[in-house]
Amino acid sequence: MRLLPLVVLVTAAACQPAGPSYHQDIKPILDARCANCHVAGGIAPFALDTFAAAEGKAAVIADAVASGRMPPWKAGPSDVTYLRNPSLSDEQKASIAAWAKSPVEGDKTKPGAALPSLGGGVERVDRTVQMPAAYTPRITPDDYRCFVLEWPETATKYITGVNARPGVASQAHHIALYIVEPADAMYPRMWDAEDATPGYECFGGPFGSRPQQFPVNLLTAWIPGYQGTTFPRGGGIRIEPGTTVVMQMHYNVQNVAQPQEDLTSMEFTLADTVQRRMAYQPMLDVAWVAGQMKIPAANPDVLHQYVADPRQFFELLGSPLDNTNGFNIEAVMFHMHTLGKHGELWLEKADRRRIRILDIPAWDFHWQNEYQLAEPVRFEPGDKLRVKCTFANDKAGAVETNWGENSDEEMCVANILSSE
Ligand code: HEC
Repeated sequence: MRLLPLVVLVTAAACQPAGPSYHQDIKPILDARCANCHVAGGIAPFALDTFAAAEGKAAVIADAVASGRMPPWKAGPSDVTYLRNPSLSDEQKASIAAWAKSPVEGDKTKPGAALPSLGGGVERVDRTVQMPAAYTPRITPDDYRCFVLEWPETATKYITGVNARPGVASQAHHIALYIVEPADAMYPRMWDAEDATPGYECFGGPFGSRPQQFPVNLLTAWIPGYQGTTFPRGGGIRIEPGTTVVMQMHYNVQNVAQPQEDLTSMEFTLADTVQRRMAYQPMLDVAWVAGQMKIPAANPDVLHQYVADPRQFFELLGSPLDNTNGFNIEAVMFHMHTLGKHGELWLEKADRRRIRILDIPAWDFHWQNEYQLAEPVRFEPGDKLRVKCTFANDKAGAVETNWGENSDEEMCVANILSSE
């Protein structure tokens, strides 16, 4: 008589769902959100695409996803949603945490369903432009090198998508492209010609530490792991024949045995017309550029912020867009250097609503993603934008610094991919 309840208990235990297994639950997550970087020859220091590899790293994987360090995505909560957000759901994090406690392999012949793709990538490659000469990174661990690319098209075009083909994927950390108008193209060419080594050193942007300053427009930025960008909603950036494109390569050779010769090329999707003309417009305070962004030493919390209708400034920089009736905020790419701690961009509407467009609560210079908005947000006449940067300048030996292009100087810019 007393046996019956026990039997019931045993049956119930047998029916409990088994804990997560690698092939059924974990591999689909790692394949979709990690293996694009964590693969042999990829930018990440180890592969995560086999059971053996993942099992060996189970504890650190669980820690990296629980803390949100991986996959790299630095945007915090805001009032908008972003496209292609690779962040794991709480359920996926819990599944990884449970698996890491006892990393079961599961049945290889019954793989779990693949996660939906995040999208992205380019539809078509119409033009490929390669670095003019091969270069081997010389500065360890970070080498910032600018190369001068001559734009080969002979008619006005719109760039609607961009992808990079890094020569050596494991050492290409970040690539930024800048459009330099024909009138100013002599400068980058001159800097390139200063010595026999291809390209010229440039940390913060296309000028490096040179005194010359001229208007440049950001064309795109590429980071590893994302298979290129198609500008959202049928948009494109106009590019004229005769334009020079400066390609800033950020090489990081920390995880490679020996720096290797690099010959990176950029792939472009082109169109003759677009549904929306787009351009990056930079939100910043000109006074900062003139030396008024003092960051004293021994201070862990230095805030600089600027609130304005930025349209006049955009005009001054020669914006290719007509901002008379406002503009759409399509995507934002924030830029600070290594003292950056917290970055924010707010839209302050004329009716006093405040819309948090982007909030990066733990700025990481190494992961400067572009955040594309799922729905564009409109800046209308009467509205203001507020850009806020907090810096921490309290490391041992810190000295006072200010705005500048060098690695020991700082910047605070919200590059806004805008459309008319
Ligand atoms: C965009 C490329 C990229 C993606 C996607 C990515 N990683 Fe990484 N990961 C890196 C790089 C580069 C490093 C080494 C440098 C660093 O820590 O930033 C790294 C380091 C790590 C580390 C060791 C350092 C730490 O923070 O613990 C772990 C563990 C890790 N990744 C796990 C993952 C997991 C799990 C995923 C997917 C859920 C993932 N990564 C997605 C690029 C990536």
